[in-house]
Amino acid sequence: MKRVGILTSGGDCQGLNSAIRSVAKALYENYGNQVEIYGIIDGYRGLINAEYRLMQPEDFSGILTRGGTILGTSRQPFKLMRVIDEETSVDKVAEMKKTYKKLKLDCLVVLGGNGTHKTANLLSEEGLNVVSMPKTIDNDIWGTDVTFGFQSAVDIATNVIDCIHTTATSHGRVFIVECMGHKAGWLTLHAGIAGGADVILIPEIPYHIDKVIDCIKTRTKNGKTFSILAVAEGAISEDIAKLPKKKKKEAIANLMYPSISYKIAHEIEEATGQETRVTVPGHFQRGGSPNSYDRFITTRFGAAAAQLIIKEKYGYMTGLVDGKIVPVSLKEVAGKLKGVPVDSEIIKSAKQIGISFGD
Ligand code: F6P
Repeated sequence: MKRVGILTSGGDCQGLNSAIRSVAKALYENYGNQVEIYGIIDGYRGLINAEYRLMQPEDFSGILTRGGTILGTSRQPFKLMRVIDEETSVDKVAEMKKTYKKLKLDCLVVLGGNGTHKTANLLSEEGLNVVSMPKTIDNDIWGTDVTFGFQSAVDIATNVIDCIHTTATSHGRVFIVECMGHKAGWLTLHAGIAGGADVILIPEIPYHIDKVIDCIKTRTKNGKTFSILAVAEGAISEDIAKLPKKKKKEAIANLMYPSISYKIAHEIEEATGQETRVTVPGHFQRGGSPNSYDRFITTRFGAAAAQLIIKEKYGYMTGLVDGKIVPVSLKEVAGKLKGVPVDSEIIKSAKQIGISFGD
């Protein structure tokens, strides 16, 4: 009997259930009734607290299009994984290993983002058999050209920009749409381009507010009555970006606005006199049904993860590289962030059509 645990960890996104479905279907297809799949509840928390349930084949039916995760998820920061809880004296790593052993697992399948992959690698180094899949709307996992959830979030953010376009045009206003992404600007970049934003601000390219204002003033001079900005949560001004690490953190924490977009809106309004509004779709971007691309890619990721288990090839994430699904070592993935390369062709072509990045 083969025993496989599966968990979803970190922020949820579209495609988690279709990824779970795919790996389960491929395992049942190969092992028939000679496989037991254990759903670990709420991510690593369930592994620490030994909360799980033995799944049945019917649990994986009808979930291809369902948003969220049937297993639940939680954030368990990697930096605290080795820290013994003072109140409970719980050694999280030891407890996770205990649950794995108690269930006599042959492998643990982990679906998660960057933090999740650091812990997945830690567990792999601790001797557990781990296979993972890259999940996040941020698309910032190293070793894969795309993460699942990303394209669905791009669709949603693009739709927000489309809707904002009509109201911005009617009122002749400046609108900022703030997209998720504290460290990486992929979502803002893709949705900004797809939605026809005039300005795109992402963490990888620190902005100069004067350049942003110049762009809006030029548009007004050219007869455009409105402007749209796509701004990432983690967009950062040049002044703050060049501060030493600690001072930079303080400056971000002490921002006198609900988020960076409100500061930018205030600065634009002051300089141009044009009414400026902010729209923050927030977690809306992670919700709802996965789009066709995410259903497609998670099906491929899940099938590939099952093949790794069947071949007993552990310690790998399934990545998409140049159109092919390949195993990428967890050691390589853990601790790296795939940001938008500032010299990328995407940025170049956006600039060629006149989109400002505020640089
Ligand atoms: O990592 C995915 C993500 O949606 C980021 O884009 C966002 O900054 C963050 O999670 C929000 O986290 P939470 O759901 O914990 O508020």
